[in-house]
Amino acid sequence: MKVTEPNTSTVMPETSPPSLKLWQHNHILDLDNFTKDEIELVFETSNAMKEVLKREIKKVPTLRGKTLATLFCEPSTRTRASFELAAKNLSADVINLDAIKSSVIKGESLIDTLRTLQAMGADIIVIRHSQSGAPYLAARHLNVSIINAGDGWHAHPTQALLDLYTIHHHLGQLNGLKVVIIGDIMHSRVAHSNIWGMSIMGAEVILCAPASLLPYGLNDFITNCHLPPITVEPKLDIALKGADAIMPLRLQKERQQTNLLPSLREYIQLYQLNQERLSLAKSHALVLHPGPVNEGIEIAPEVAYGAQSVIEEQVTNGLAIRMALLYLIVGGKR
Ligand code: CP
Repeated sequence: MKVTEPNTSTVMPETSPPSLKLWQHNHILDLDNFTKDEIELVFETSNAMKEVLKREIKKVPTLRGKTLATLFCEPSTRTRASFELAAKNLSADVINLDAIKSSVIKGESLIDTLRTLQAMGADIIVIRHSQSGAPYLAARHLNVSIINAGDGWHAHPTQALLDLYTIHHHLGQLNGLKVVIIGDIMHSRVAHSNIWGMSIMGAEVILCAPASLLPYGLNDFITNCHLPPITVEPKLDIALKGADAIMPLRLQKERQQTNLLPSLREYIQLYQLNQERLSLAKSHALVLHPGPVNEGIEIAPEVAYGAQSVIEEQVTNGLAIRMALLYLIVGGKR
């Protein structure tokens, strides 16, 4: 039987490599310093990575000889697994450090732990930390590229990029779309990065939440950010009218120091995305969720698994997005 050799030799797929001249980032800390052109470059590079992922052998030598280290000081399923797989698909070596099993537990500082990874030859460090700003501190003290995999309430830029990419893939653009983000916006680093990303791409962002779950200083931010419209609409039925994409958020009980809601039952009554409410949005409206999902709380199961849900696709796209970002960071250094 004749066996066709799978194509593992090319760094990028058959499509020509996107221009790296646009790329300005040594680190990925948040999307507030990204341009529309850079986000489009990430999309274009992710399209090429998706082509790699369709191959029989999903591996290219782009990062051969490079080392990616991950340090997760908070739990993760999607982000951690997809960074590891993305690096392996690009032929990098991978070190995964679990904070709970590392010398952090013996009192070693974050920077010393990261310096240890740097001393072992890590080229890129992916970090998730409960303290907002931890990846910024790392970027200031180390000579390697830092990728923020979620810092406290602050930012989760790679999640936002995969969310933007998923919407763009289905609806062809982000400019002019109406995107509704529902729920625990105060504690959601995903929402914060998405607000930047969607606004930079020209989408209208509507935040729908009880006042107790909106970030402090939001009105000042909206007034001063000079981005396309960001509005707050506390009534879900009004917010959903004419929506192109809807993202309910998990209630982050682990980050709520005080009782911010009178009762969970009332929250579900007022803010759960169910089928009846979804019908208020445009018929093509996409349902996204960054995960993990609290089924039956922020989203009804029939919506989470329904025809308009792209939640699983977000996870799949996350792999292509992270491969693209690793490629761009390493390529951008050449
Ligand atoms: N969306 C997200 O960050 O998921 P994980 O916590 O599973 O990584």
